[in-house]
Amino acid sequence: MKVNLDDFRQTEDPECIFSTMIPLKRKKVSQPVSQQNDTCTFPHVSIFILERKMGTSRRAFLTRLGRSKGFLIRETYSSSITHVVSENNSGDEVQAWLDNQTERDASSSVHLLDIRWFTESMEAGHPITVQDRHILKVNPKPNGDPSAMQMKSYACQRRTPLKHHNSFLTEALEILSQNAEYNDNEGRSVAFRRAASVLKALPHRVKTIEDLRCLPCLGDHSQRVIKEILEDGSSREVESTRQSEQFQTMKALTGIFGVGVRTADRWFREGLRSPDDLIRTGQQLNRAQQAGLQYYDDLQKPVTKAEADVISDIVEKAVHAVLPGAEIQLMGGFRRGKEVGHDVDFLITHPEEGKEEGLMPKITNWLEEQGLLLYQKTTRNSYLEKMDGPARPPNNMDRFERCFSIFKLQKSAVRCKSNSTASVEDVSRGGENERPSEHHSEESGWRAVRVDLVVSPYSQFAFATLGWTGSKLFERELRRWAGQEKHMSLSSHALYDSKQNLYLRAKTEEEIFAYLGLEFIPPSERNA
Ligand code: UTP
Ligand code: MN
Repeated sequence: MKVNLDDFRQTEDPECIFSTMIPLKRKKVSQPVSQQNDTCTFPHVSIFILERKMGTSRRAFLTRLGRSKGFLIRETYSSSITHVVSENNSGDEVQAWLDNQTERDASSSVHLLDIRWFTESMEAGHPITVQDRHILKVNPKPNGDPSAMQMKSYACQRRTPLKHHNSFLTEALEILSQNAEYNDNEGRSVAFRRAASVLKALPHRVKTIEDLRCLPCLGDHSQRVIKEILEDGSSREVESTRQSEQFQTMKALTGIFGVGVRTADRWFREGLRSPDDLIRTGQQLNRAQQAGLQYYDDLQKPVTKAEADVISDIVEKAVHAVLPGAEIQLMGGFRRGKEVGHDVDFLITHPEEGKEEGLMPKITNWLEEQGLLLYQKTTRNSYLEKMDGPARPPNNMDRFERCFSIFKLQKSAVRCKSNSTASVEDVSRGGENERPSEHHSEESGWRAVRVDLVVSPYSQFAFATLGWTGSKLFERELRRWAGQEKHMSLSSHALYDSKQNLYLRAKTEEEIFAYLGLEFIPPSERNA
């Protein structure tokens, strides 16, 4: 193995190491966290110290100690590593970690070693020969489906198609996830959702509990539920949850636009059970909730792709009318290839940075003049790039200029579009003559549709695109991967490298996956 000692020359300028990473406007002048080796006496032994269960400060101490003795110790894992050293980890744990490394060259062999090899080498003053007692024991994987054995543990490392083979199990697990969310138990909710997501990525239908061996993210509870469904056809816990008054009420009340879990739970405890109960008891409602109640039946109905396409045409027309050259992209579930959704999401930008400022009110005015909006609330862009990185813990709410709206969609336009002859003029004409009606009936020529519009500065567009494509679990796993595996912080605005104290710029989603050391997953396979 050839080692280029220039790689390890100490540098004062972080830009030298990461030429593709553009530093902050005012660059931090402090030393990068990771000092490189001054001198390296044993270049044939390339060491990586695993931080897992060891902690940052001990790892930093051991790194300094080793380097002072001329050992080659790398900050990041790559295929050139020959010795992985860890403390208090089992061989299986280190192997699982290694399997997750995309930089890994599967053909090269690497020593997985206990810390004893390192300390003994320190004492000896040179890398000692690896002996049996240094080697972490890795249990051979049980024979099973080879594809199941390769299942990665983060959803953002896997391909999850829209259609899969295990809905009979995932729907049940998702009921339990939903119920945990209604009970404000986020940890439990995510655990069930992760379990469901693993089953969605399986290339076959689960037939026996044996098929689950070797799969990550399946806790005892999920396994119990799956076992019961496989053996009895259904799970008592899932069925009683589904039928429970609390579950049904929470589902109905959180189904109202503008109503979250907290509010729904308060109403449930006050004895309210349905949207009608809110009207009957004269509950205080905000403007969003009033609209939510008024268009409840329509908003319960799934939005079809054909409807989303008609709305795309309208939004494009509106945006180009007020800002020529702006770009519009259909986001969310429809970008992932879904045929129906609960709303339609759009991301809007302009290639000239700054042109997008103040765009949203112009769009909504245009739409309102055409009589196409039943409701809208715009929030302003409040994102500020902080020099010393994003706040901790990272706030997952994004801060783009954003419009939550309810569109008035002419059904005739959708029929025309399905026959692929509609013009936007056809689409908006009906809206001019009809006013939103309190008593919107089935026979009316229009329906209400939830639409989210988001405006992003061009420099953040790739991050916004990634953040608004979903699925929600895929996004969550991307952020978890970034933080736990890469010491980075990902949001819909930026990617920040906490080791180098740098924002990493990207023009495409592909670049962001590459920074994160992940294989690129196309939108249609992000249905985690
Ligand atoms: P949606 O809630 O619209 O989900 O969020 P969806 O995947 O399109 O599914 P349906 O069919 O509408 O139910 C779309 C994406 O936008 C992101 C979510 O993470 C999701 O990936 N999003 C949503 C945000 O980043 N911030 C928000 O405030 C809302
Ligand atoms: Mn959506």
